[in-house]
Amino acid sequence: LSSYPSKQPSLSLCLHLSLSLSLSLFLSSYLAKQPSLRSSIRDHETCERLKGLTNGQVQICQRHVEAMDSVKRGAEIAIEECQHQFQNRRWNCSTLDGIHVFGKVITQGTREAAFVHAVSSAGVAFAVTRACSRGELEKCGCDRKIRGLSPEGFQWSGCSDNLSYGVAFSQSFVDSPERSRGLSSSRVLMNLHNNEAGRKAILSNMKVECKCHGVSGSCEVRTCWKVMPPFRKVGNVLKEKFDGATEVQQRKVGSRKVLVPKSAQFKPHTIQDLVYLVPSPDFCEHDPKNGILGTAGRQCNRTSRAIDGCELMCCGRGFNTVETEVVERCSCKFRWCCSVKCKQCRHVVQVHSCR
Ligand SMILES: *[C@@H]1O[C@H](CO)[C@@H](O)[C@H](O)[C@H]1NC(C)=O
Ligand SMILES: *[C@@H]1O[C@H](CO)[C@@H](O)[C@H](O)[C@H]1NC(C)=O
Ligand SMILES: *[C@@H]1O[C@H](CO)[C@@H](O)[C@H](O)[C@H]1NC(C)=O
Repeated sequence: LSSYPSKQPSLSLCLHLSLSLSLSLFLSSYLAKQPSLRSSIRDHETCERLKGLTNGQVQICQRHVEAMDSVKRGAEIAIEECQHQFQNRRWNCSTLDGIHVFGKVITQGTREAAFVHAVSSAGVAFAVTRACSRGELEKCGCDRKIRGLSPEGFQWSGCSDNLSYGVAFSQSFVDSPERSRGLSSSRVLMNLHNNEAGRKAILSNMKVECKCHGVSGSCEVRTCWKVMPPFRKVGNVLKEKFDGATEVQQRKVGSRKVLVPKSAQFKPHTIQDLVYLVPSPDFCEHDPKNGILGTAGRQCNRTSRAIDGCELMCCGRGFNTVETEVVERCSCKFRWCCSVKCKQCRHVVQVHSCR
């Protein structure tokens, strides 16, 4: 634990950040490297030492220590998914420089912030639900109450994923920092909305899995149960929501504050859509003060006209090309019996990277 304090982000930054984020960064980057902590996260004192959590989250942690490994796992899959979805974009969800890089972009209510919130709260709901179904948590299990004949003629049975505990856990844990900040700021409303949209992306993409019973697989009787979609699917759905996100502003309706589309021409967003308050920067130039890495050095695709193409990725600065040799196995032949013999082929590929 000796390196623990120095790894922590400063408190002021933590307060600045919306916490689901510092949570995911903290837990995944720190806990992942400390296998020894896995056992001790089961005691209450550990919760207090987890800097980056709000008081409310520390209390939830203490009441549900057994779920904290799932929270950590949820944070990890969220970051993995974010980096996968954004690998070919100027902002690539990089957490290399820890909290600063991820953080600043996220503190301004951009689309990127919306995505990160949604995917983080979905990640936590997903990982907790999975743990419930596997019987790893005492307070929840899988859903065996879905019974009877379905309209499609199959029999419900078995262990369905019960999302209600995982979703409720994500609501209380991930939303807790927002709620404690009060419901008056647009940023809080935005975060809460996007957190919920993330969880909805799981709920509205539940799948049915079935097993056949009957003589030699005749499938006379089918029993089915509900499972969550793979997390990749959740990421794909949220990335689409990112592309179609709605710019919103706050308005008072009666005594309540709500977010409404900024332009009357936009169709109103639904509970499943992502919303944001400020347009994103272009992410072109290195700007450490705002946590922007810039695209210099990024690989780009010479022939693509999309955002991964050299023109857009490099923001018009141009690119360098180097030729590198790639060695691959090729002309493989099967030899009786039983080996595969290959030649080594060398070919030269061009790698382009932004100036
Ligand atoms: C699903 O979980 C919720 C919350 O833990 C619980 O109240 C409910 O009974 C569970 N449903 C089933 C069918 O097990
Ligand atoms: C993201 O981009 C930065 C430079 O802008 C680069 O250093 C980093 O390796 C990239 N991260 C990933 C996961 O591709
Ligand atoms: C580059 O972009 C083109 C056109 O979009 C695509 O067909 C090709 O597969 C891309 N190359 C790489 C290496 O991603």
